[in-house]
Amino acid sequence: MHTHQFNWYYKILDLPQLPIELETQVWNRYCDPELTQYRITSDSYLSNRTDLAHKPGPGDVVGKRNGIIFPNGRGSRYSVPATVEDWVKQNIATDYNDAGIYVIFGDQYHTVLPHTDQTRVFSLLYLLEPGGNDVHTDFWKEQGHSVHREMKSFGCDYGQLELLHTEQWPLRTWILLNTNILHSVENLTCHRVQFQVSLEHIPNIPAKFTKDI
Ligand SMILES: [Fe+2]
Repeated sequence: MHTHQFNWYYKILDLPQLPIELETQVWNRYCDPELTQYRITSDSYLSNRTDLAHKPGPGDVVGKRNGIIFPNGRGSRYSVPATVEDWVKQNIATDYNDAGIYVIFGDQYHTVLPHTDQTRVFSLLYLLEPGGNDVHTDFWKEQGHSVHREMKSFGCDYGQLELLHTEQWPLRTWILLNTNILHSVENLTCHRVQFQVSLEHIPNIPAKFTKDI
């Protein structure tokens, strides 16, 4: 299977912040009692990717660290009002798969296990709530595997993983994540909330890449 290789974990992009009135619309959607009706699922993407559809998903794997078995952290994606998408198309990117809120339920789960994403090559993140006081995103290499992995891969046994890089991302900053390297979210204690744009390509944006890591 084709694997995408880039020699960076993420880039911090010099792109405008979401205007406050639009961020308010995002929060209002997050707080909407009918939020579940706005769910975005991976089903339609995966239905076109039978090579990926048969692989175990995030809900099928468990973590193992220091002899302890624990569940994989889960989250859900939700669509945002059209006004927010219009702003994204004008200011951030037009050629995306989907744009929406991603909520990780860190109150129930404390780790999103090392994984590569299942529906996208890049993720453009805009963090609104970190999910705890000391949450970090870690990048990993699994023994016996290359750094770059196929889509929808997992590294569940921390005894087999070498930490490559750890990062705490700033809020309200556009971050282009290379999702083809195993990455985990660690130390969650409450909901992590981010605005997120899923991409198949480096976005067609005029942004200066201010920082490559
Ligand atoms: Fe991911």
